[in-house]
Amino acid sequence: MLDLALAIAHHLLVFGLFGILFAELILVRPGMDRQAVARVGAIDLWYGLLAGLIIVVGFSRAIFAAKGWFYYSHNAFFWAKLGTFALIGLLSVPPTIDYIRWRRANTAPSHAQVRAAQRFLWIEVLLFPLLLVFAAAMARGYGEIG
Ligand code: HEM
Repeated sequence: MLDLALAIAHHLLVFGLFGILFAELILVRPGMDRQAVARVGAIDLWYGLLAGLIIVVGFSRAIFAAKGWFYYSHNAFFWAKLGTFALIGLLSVPPTIDYIRWRRANTAPSHAQVRAAQRFLWIEVLLFPLLLVFAAAMARGYGEIG
């Protein structure tokens, strides 16, 4: 039952995070006004919250749910997935700093500033499918180490 509850929570959170990332990609565009800056800043708080919950629920699954920590800690796809997740997390830092700066400056961001943030968001979106590939592989026992 715990396994099922955690699996459901994990999927809901993961879909939520992707939705938020995509919403940011749509909002952050040349010509965005101060209102859009405020909106993307608010959405970005949810990004942080969901990412934190995914870590908590994900590790709970890995440690307490069906297969146990030994299974995952000896799986290369598990570590590849965690590494990719960490990389996406790092890539999300510059846009977050941008949103805070834009909000403080109280002016609409320049074309170049928007383009720079968009680049980070695009890389995050493009890396996301790798998480699904690694997740499916690790769940099926591919990539066993030792
Ligand atoms: C946005 C990031 C993440 C995405 C997109 C993601 C995606 C997925 C998906 C789609 C599955 C189901 C795989 C399947 O049954 O075929 C899964 C399972 C799982 N994920 Fe994640 N995940 C993410 C983050 C994490 C994190 C940070 C952890 C931390 C340890 C984690 C641990 C697990 C575990 C333990 C399973 C169960 C695999 C199994 O059934 O054996 N996930 N994940």
